Amino acid sequence: MCGIVGYVGEKKCTPILLNGLKNLEYRGYDSAGIAVLEKNSIQIRKAKGRVKNLEELMQKDLCEGTIGIAHTRWATHGKPSKENAHPHEDNSHSFALVHNGIIENYKQLRRFLKEQDYTFYSETDTEVIPNLIHYYYTKQEKTKKGFLQAVALACKKLEGSFAILVLCKDFPKTIILARRNSPLVVGKGENEYYIASDMPAILEYTRDFYFLEDNEITLLEKDSIDFFDFDLDKHKKELVHSGLNRHASSKNGYQDFMLKEIEEQPQAIFETLQKEIELPLSRKEISSFSQIYIVACGTAMHAGLVGKTCIESFCKIPTFVEIASEFRYRNPLVDSDTLCIFISQSGETADTIAALKLAKQKGAKTIAISNVMGSSLVREADMYFYTYAGPEIAVASTKAYTSQVCLLCMIAISLAKQLKTTSKNELESFKKELLQLPQEIESILDNKDSIQLLAKQLYLEKDMFFLGRGIDYATCLEASLKLKEISYIHSEAYPAGELKHGPIALIESNTAVVGILTEETLLDKTISNLQEVMARGAKIFVVTNQVLPENNFDFIFSVPKTNRFLSPILSIVPFQLFSYYIAKEKDLDIDKPRNLAKSVTVE
Ligand code: M6R
Repeated sequence: MCGIVGYVGEKKCTPILLNGLKNLEYRGYDSAGIAVLEKNSIQIRKAKGRVKNLEELMQKDLCEGTIGIAHTRWATHGKPSKENAHPHEDNSHSFALVHNGIIENYKQLRRFLKEQDYTFYSETDTEVIPNLIHYYYTKQEKTKKGFLQAVALACKKLEGSFAILVLCKDFPKTIILARRNSPLVVGKGENEYYIASDMPAILEYTRDFYFLEDNEITLLEKDSIDFFDFDLDKHKKELVHSGLNRHASSKNGYQDFMLKEIEEQPQAIFETLQKEIELPLSRKEISSFSQIYIVACGTAMHAGLVGKTCIESFCKIPTFVEIASEFRYRNPLVDSDTLCIFISQSGETADTIAALKLAKQKGAKTIAISNVMGSSLVREADMYFYTYAGPEIAVASTKAYTSQVCLLCMIAISLAKQLKTTSKNELESFKKELLQLPQEIESILDNKDSIQLLAKQLYLEKDMFFLGRGIDYATCLEASLKLKEISYIHSEAYPAGELKHGPIALIESNTAVVGILTEETLLDKTISNLQEVMARGAKIFVVTNQVLPENNFDFIFSVPKTNRFLSPILSIVPFQLFSYYIAKEKDLDIDKPRNLAKSVTVE
């Protein structure tokens, strides 16, 4: 999805902005652009396609200023094109602006501005904003305060979500920033500030950040930063130091972020397990919960499915998992006796945030789990916990998933301790098994060559089926999603017992079927289901932590045995590698698969 970078300082801004945009490429985009303030004019360059096209253009057509804004666009209103790319200007070429988000009332605003003789040159919702700012600016004194006032008045008229950076040719030292429901961070340097929609874009320059809040506007110059609300009441804001190191968002020698992130899982889990999880709730409050909802999208939802099993077993509270885009529109039966847990790596997924707001309105207590410090989700929630996986850049989520499962298990421990629904001994030994996970994942990673060989055999498959029962079904869903999204192989995940009710019709000679076998009590049943498909000609590939009876399976990969609730953390790793190596064989763009964006900030 769209990305924003900005700079104000003493250095030439173009290389910094281009580098920042490259750091945001993982988010998915279709065009890029830059605006640089040079004396009293704004220089704008845009290109369709990759940031390197913009870079090539700028090598021929230099911009020399030390203050600028930049953007990667993921088309929502209007096709990918140079005209629709950001920055957008007002009709008088006085303002240039980049925007993340969607202006829901842009049609009304466009109509209003057309009545005031403004012309529109793009199909975007964004183009109304610089013109609206200009409209208000014409009614103000031509001072910095007038500029700020015009942006604030325009923001008040906007409905929907926005993070904007605005330049005005009358103020060659100033950038104005504003946000609502779309993230913006400002990084502080020496006599300079870096701005980004996502911290990894600027992590190599600074680790000291201001996180902008909703309905906040910021006036930025190289040596000053002032925060206001949209009524222009000024307030102070804390500078937050990020513990992430500068290599956290670089490939650091790897060919792809995805492989780096798969291999970072032992560290990510270790870091996540270091933090104590203390729910700021009394025993009485926890006992009042009659149900728990876990709400998320995609991989984060799959983490919820694993968490549900653990929470129900330890806490004896009925727990439901829902896809956020469904939950938000179906008037769910949640109330003040409900605890709702929202999971999002990015913390910016529009559906998950909307679902959280709905749960709050209905009086539920809300917990956010996110991997991104200061993300919108954590700001909205009553309580939040971070996974400490470090920046996840590859679109396919790996280390965030396993860290989310760990964190949910820790929440289960904390709830169960208060409720006294599980013995201390059992919780203590579960904790010990959690702490073993990093080295157990290392041992799986040590055997990655055999997974690579398997991928070489199977990369031309058209369809694959993943079968498992109980908690293994959650792993099947996640394994199948990983395969689809980066290798473009069609795949389906089924509870193994469900096969006979329809999908078995799809099995024919040489169909590739994967079985996940970690549920000890269900082992025989799942093996029978695998034999049923084998009898119909399927090739069978198995990941297990059990000693299997004699069999004719085509491939068996063993993972270490651990607690039942933790087995998905280990059994997903071979499938992350499998999808990665298949995509590698097919020479696909692993970190940026087609049609996908890292964080889905629109509905
Ligand atoms: O940032 P979030 O965790 O909210 O993202 C949710 C999904 O969009 C995400 O997990 C998606 O399914 C991944 N591409 C899966 O690898």
